[in-house]
Amino acid sequence: MNPIQAPYPATRLRRVRQNGSVRALVRENTLTAGDLIWPVFVRAGEGIVEEIPAMPGVMRRSVDKIVEVAEEAAALGIGAICLFPYTGIEERTDDCAGAWNPDNHTNRAIRAIKAAVPDLVVMTDVALDTYNINGHDGFVVDGEIVNDTTVAALVKMALEQARAGADIIGPSDMMDGRIGAIRTALEDEGHQNVMILSYAAKYASAFYGPFRDAVGASGALTGDKKTYQMDPANSDEALRLVARDLAEGADMVMVKPGLPYLDVCRRVKDTFGAPTFAYQVSGEYSMIKAAAAAGMIDEERAMMESLMAFKRAGCNGILTYFAPAAARYLNDL
Ligand code: PBG
Repeated sequence: MNPIQAPYPATRLRRVRQNGSVRALVRENTLTAGDLIWPVFVRAGEGIVEEIPAMPGVMRRSVDKIVEVAEEAAALGIGAICLFPYTGIEERTDDCAGAWNPDNHTNRAIRAIKAAVPDLVVMTDVALDTYNINGHDGFVVDGEIVNDTTVAALVKMALEQARAGADIIGPSDMMDGRIGAIRTALEDEGHQNVMILSYAAKYASAFYGPFRDAVGASGALTGDKKTYQMDPANSDEALRLVARDLAEGADMVMVKPGLPYLDVCRRVKDTFGAPTFAYQVSGEYSMIKAAAAAGMIDEERAMMESLMAFKRAGCNGILTYFAPAAARYLNDL
C-alpha cells in the first residue's frame, strides 16, 4: 500500500472517526456469526450438562444433550460446531482403540446432529490424546511419539468420522504425512466432499491448560508435546507446514493458539491466500473470563475486540468458546 496523503490540515484523519455512521462506512473488517466455529465437548452418560471448572460457561454434555447445542448453533447462524470428546481414565488405553470406534462419543454425536440438524456443518478432532492412556496425540513407544504408525491410526479415526457424517475433519495431532494419508483414504472410500481443516501451525503452548482439564487429559499427560508441536520462536516453519499440508490436500488451514500468533495468521494468509482459521484456545478464553470476573475488563468488549483482531490479521474464521455469546451479540439478542 502506498497511501497518498495531503499534509495537515488538508488531511485530518479524525474526520472519518467523527461518529458511528461514518466509522461504520470506513470499517475495514467485519465479523459475523458465520465466521465462528464453536468447540463443543461430548462425554459419556445421559442427561449430563456440566460446567468445566477451568472454563467458566463452557459445558461438557452427554450425547443426548448435543442436539440442543446443534439447534442453538443453527438458530444463531454459527458457521460450524467442532466436537471434542471428554474421556475418563477408564476410556483410555495404550492402543487408543476408542479413537476409531464407530460408536465413540464423537461419532454418536455426529449421527445425532446430522439426523436432527442436517445442514449444520460439523467438524471433528483427529488426534489420539483423548483416547491415549498417556495423553499424547500419537502412540508412545519406548518414550518416543512414533509418527508413521500413528498416522495409520489417525486415518482409521478420520474414516469413522466421515462415515458418521462429519463435514470437516480436523487433524490436530501434528504428525508428518497425516493430511495426505487421510485425503487418500477419503477419496478411496468415496468421501470426495469431506473437507480437511488442518491444524497446520500448532504450537506447543501453555495456553492449552484449561482444555486438557476439559477433555480429561491434565492428569494423563506425561512429559510435553514439543517433539511434534511447534516451537513458539518460529514462524518460517509455520509457512513450510502450511505449504506441505495444502500440497497434501488440506482445504483449509489453522494457526493455533490465536492472539499470541496473529503475525503467523497474517503471514499464512498473505503467502497462500487459502481459507485460514485461528483457534482462540482455552487459555485465551479463560484469561478474558477471569479478568472480567475480577472486574478488570469489560467481558463483552474484550471478547468482540479479540475476535475482530483475527479478521484484521487475515483470518476467514475463528474457533472460539465465545461463539454462542459472540453470535448472540452480533445478532442483537
Ligand atoms: C489435542 C488438542 C488440544 C487442543 C485441541 N486439540 C490440546 C493439546 O494439543 O494438548 C487445545 C484446544 C484449547 O486449548 O482450547 N489434540
